[in-house]
Parts: sequence; C-alpha cells; structure tokens
Amino acid sequence: MAEQSPALDNLLNESRTFPPSEEFSAQANATAELYDEANADRDAFWAKQAERLHWETKWSQVLDWSGAPFAKWFVGGKLNVAYNCVDRHVDEGHGEQIAIHWVGEPGDTRDLTYADLKREVSKAANALASLGLRAGDVVAIQLQMVPEAIIAMLACARLGVLHSVVFGGFSPTALRARVDDAAAKVVITSDGQYRRGKAAPMKTNVDEALEGAESVQKVLVVRRTGSDLTDEVPWTDGRDLWWHELVDDQSEEHTPEAFDSEHPLYILYTSGTTGKPKGILHTSGGYLTQAAYTHNVVFDHKPGKDVYWCTADIGWVTGHSYIVYGPLANRATQVVYEGTPNTPHEGRHWEIVQKYKVSIYYTAPTLIRTFMKWGKEIPESYDLSSLRVLGSVGEPINPEAWIWYRENIGAGKAPIVDTWWQTETGAIMISPLPGVTSAKPGSAQRALPGISAKVVDDQAQEVGNGGGGYLVLDQPWPSMLRGVWGDEQRFRDTYWSRFADQGFYFAGDGAKYDNDGDVWLLGRVDDVMNISGHRISTTEVESALVSHPTVAEAAVVGAADPTTGQGIVAFVILRGNAKDGGDEAVQELRNHVAKEIGPIAKPRQIMVVPELPKTRSGKIMRRLLRDVAENREVGDVTTLADSSVMDLISSGLGSGK
Ligand code: WT7
Repeated sequence: MAEQSPALDNLLNESRTFPPSEEFSAQANATAELYDEANADRDAFWAKQAERLHWETKWSQVLDWSGAPFAKWFVGGKLNVAYNCVDRHVDEGHGEQIAIHWVGEPGDTRDLTYADLKREVSKAANALASLGLRAGDVVAIQLQMVPEAIIAMLACARLGVLHSVVFGGFSPTALRARVDDAAAKVVITSDGQYRRGKAAPMKTNVDEALEGAESVQKVLVVRRTGSDLTDEVPWTDGRDLWWHELVDDQSEEHTPEAFDSEHPLYILYTSGTTGKPKGILHTSGGYLTQAAYTHNVVFDHKPGKDVYWCTADIGWVTGHSYIVYGPLANRATQVVYEGTPNTPHEGRHWEIVQKYKVSIYYTAPTLIRTFMKWGKEIPESYDLSSLRVLGSVGEPINPEAWIWYRENIGAGKAPIVDTWWQTETGAIMISPLPGVTSAKPGSAQRALPGISAKVVDDQAQEVGNGGGGYLVLDQPWPSMLRGVWGDEQRFRDTYWSRFADQGFYFAGDGAKYDNDGDVWLLGRVDDVMNISGHRISTTEVESALVSHPTVAEAAVVGAADPTTGQGIVAFVILRGNAKDGGDEAVQELRNHVAKEIGPIAKPRQIMVVPELPKTRSGKIMRRLLRDVAENREVGDVTTLADSSVMDLISSGLGSGK
C-alpha cells in the first residue's frame, strides 16, 4: 500500500478521546444497542429501517444477493422517492414547516415550506412530462445551489426519470462526456451564477458542451443572474426553454407513481483510475432507506426542531444524500447556501448559522482548515450556541483541525462525526454515533450498525489491532451502487476483482485498526487524488496535459497540501519543438487543464522535466515523484530502468515552479 505522509504519522499518534456527555446521550437517536440489534439479524435490522419510508407496496424479501455483485434490496417493494421526501410530510400535517431556508450569494433569501416544495416539484414534474420524458429517461442537471436544483432532482425522481447532476464547475468537455455517456434527453441549467460577488455565465458553457450532442432534445434554463450578466444568454430556438416559462403555468397537481424498489434513481459520475469518469448508478428503496437512517442516527436529527446545514454542492454525492434525499426524507429544515464561504466576508457561514440557529453543521476538512487559516476571531464574533452536532466528510480530518472545529465552532462540547463513505456507497458507512461513541480526533472509528467493514491484507486476511491494509466492505448494504452505467465489466473489475474469492467490495482506501480496533482511514491506495475532498484521477489530469500540443509526456501525483489535503503536482516533458518551459508556458498548461476538466483539476504546480522515472516495464514510479513534490529525500530507486533519472529531475528543478 501507499507509504504514509508525515501528516498521517501525526494522525496515528493521536490518542485523545472525547466521551459523549450524559446530557447528549440521554436524548440521542442512536443507542449502543443498535449494534447488537444489527449483529443479531442484519436483514431484520434493515427491514426495520425501511419502515422509515412510505411504501405503496411492501417488499417481500429484504435482500436478494443471488446475483452478486448486483444487489436487490426490498424486493417487490414499490415506492415513490419524491413522495417520501415531500408529499408525505404535507399529508402528515407538516406542510407549513420550512423545508429550505435558501440563501443566495448576493444576500437574497427564499424560504420554502414542505407545501411550497410539493407545489414546485409537482409543477416541475408536469413540465418535464410535457417534454415527453418518461420513467427510465435521463436528464442532466448542471446548476449551482439554487432551489430549482433540488426541485429538478425531485421532479425527476417523481417521474422515475434518472438525473445525472454535473458539478457546476465542470468544463464543457466534462459535461459533454457525461451527457453522451448516459444519452441525456434534457439538460437543465441556468443563465449564469453568482460566484465571489460576480455574475458569471453558465448557459454559454452548456451551449459549447452541447454542440452536436445528438441525444439532447431540450435545454431548460433557470433565470438566476438575469440582467446582472453582461453577455447575452445564447439561445437555440426550438431547443431552449426558460424554466419559469415552462414550469410556472403547470398544474400544481401531480399524482406520484410508485416505482419498483430497484428502479434507478440517479447516475453520478466519479473519477476512477482511468481517464474516463464512471457513472455510478443508484436505485430507489435501499438508497433512500440508508440515506434516511444514517441522516437520523449520525446527525441525531430531530424533525421540526433541528436546523440542519450541509455545506456540500449537489454536484457531489454528499449533496445528493445529505442535502436532498436523507434530510428531506427525514423532514428536515435545512439551510441551502448558494455561494462561497468568504463572500462577501469570511464570517459568512457563521452569520448564517447565527441567523437561522443552525444546530447541525456538516462540512469538509478542507474548509475547516481554511477557517483555521482565517482565524478563530471570525467565528468568535458570532453566536454559534445553537450548534450541537458537527460533521466532517471527504478526506481524513487531521487531529489539529478536529480539535479546532470542536473548540471554536462546537464550543468545546458538540460531538464531531467523521463520516467515511463514497459516491459508490451512497450513504455513510463508517462513523462515530453521537451520544454513543467516545470520539477520537482523526478516526472514523466503526462501521455503522447494519454495515460491515474490515481492514485486510493482500491475502484478504483481516489484520489485527495496530495493523494496516486495505479497507473492504464484506457485506452488501442497501445504498450500495448497482453498477457502472453501461459498463458491467468495469463495475466488476474496479470493485469486485481485487478480493473476488471472498466477494469483498474493495473501496480503494488504505486503513488501519488502532489498539481498540477503531478504523483510521489513510487515503487512497490507487491513482486517485483527493483534492479538497473531491476525487480526481491522476490519469485524467495526465490525459488533459498531453492533449496540449506542447506536451510529450506527463505524470501527475497528489502531494500533501496543508489546506486542500492533497494538491495536484504535474511533471511534464515538453515536445522537442516546444519553446522553453518558462512561467508563461506553465501557466498556459495549468489553464489548459482547467479548461479540459474544470478549475478544481488545475495543477497546483507543474514542473518541466527532461525525463520521467519508469520501471523496466515502463510504469511511472509515482512514489518517487511524490517524494520530489513533497520536498523529501527521494526513496529507493533500484527498480528504475535508469537510476540516474531522479538526479536529472532533481537537478533540473527550479524552473517552472
Ligand atoms: C473517497 C470518496 C463521501 C462523500 C465525499 C467524497 C475519501 C471520504 C472520508 C473520511 C477519510 C474519506 C476516501 C473515499 N473520504 N470521506 N471521513 N475519512 N477519507 O466522495 O468523491 O466518492 O470520494 O473520499 O478516500 O474513498 P467521493
């Protein structure tokens, strides 16, 4: 497995524990007995969790694993996911409860009750149906954090139409690849978006992406920036429609149809070890069950009392499971914020927490480290006393950040839940339970009740306490992915071939047990980087680099970064006829990658080198490049085809940094 960085060593020397307060435990949703209950009869445990939902037809079997690795959960059951997230709460008398406190970046706000949401989702569903969309069709959504993003997702779910949400920061090339892969018939976007105080075009990029896209029949455009946008919104007559023109006049009545528990709900693309992103497929009943269950026990959520805020973007799985499906299924009142955390000032999040009395706050370590950098004086000047549970997701949280989070945001007492999961797992898998677990800063600790995870060695043997290896999931779980869109082989190869004999799901993460048997995540063991909690593959960035005419060869590594967890460092060999590798050339390459993939993939640093370190079989030795990128002494070079290459690289550096 991958060698450890100094930051990880630090993590592993951490030994503080924070037992829950009696006061918290007394009122907690979770209890220690949940573990025993799930261990005694896993199927019965999940059957009970599924009762959180409204089923039009009850299932006849909890789990059918006979077609492994393709699971079927709640077999024979029928439900409508949108009904469960919206109408049900209205039917049960909670129509006037706020579902969403939306806060726009420029300061405009909008509150939607569950009754409002039901009306908007019904109208949007009627609108999508009027375009001819039917169950099983695919709609791509590239929208910033506006209420219409959530409404559009729920409208799709209501119709049994799959959504494929594409992060707003992804390039036209990336959007197009996703639209083509799933043959999306409709794309939903906006005219423009507010970003760091400015209105930036969005539709223009979508148009560039969709040039010649054969599957796309209609483009629905939400008006957000309007006249704040300097450029005119490009328009294709016959294809493009304003969201408000189509949706506003629709009937507010829409009868939800119940779909099979295994009916596909959505596709979400994520980076793998090859250049082509994988379309992760999630289905309905099991997914919603686990999203609702975990949101309830991990965040100790109390409907009608808590104000919940997950700071993720709906472009990522966290936004799917912990902004849209889990919280809404649980009748949460939540904050949805459109903008960046430092617009117009660095206290924006705390101002929002204070205003709406947010009680549960779920964010990523990279943002916590950014808050640390900005200084504790900023949160100190707001009233954060409403906060009672804090969450973290996306990468291992370093103990310093954990402690800072607890002291400065959680008043030294709010439990922190460090939640490990993936796009593929659909919902939280490993996490402390607030009110139950004695928390350890930096450890995700234990698989949740109903979930089974192990740390195993190369031979699939579970390692002992104190030992490290690979994280695997050795039992199916309700919200597990049901495949890679259109590529069964890739699904089998990526997740199920590494430990095929045992039938383990291979997560791609290294992990370790401490002396109490708690799990500590140690980062990816494959060629996937984790930049600010976002997954980007080294190959993806390498292909973007070599698509530039001046680049002959490229190797990319993730190097430890104090703020973003990892930063992208690229080593490139320029073509013979290319000019020098000066600052300008390097800048152009960085921008090229941003244009090909999106700004999140822009390398932090590009080094122009004469050679790349390769083994005799031609494999690039990223380990050595990581040593260079992290300013360490270069490790063992004996397996290099030419051992002098590293001297060449090290001596030639200084240029292009
Ligand atoms: C990868 C999944 C889950 C939503 C956000 C990312 C890393 C995620 C943790 C955590 C250590 C974590 C893993 C995982 N990761 N959460 N609490 N501790 N590592 O979703 O893009 O699918 O990435 O993020 O490496 O495999 P994703």
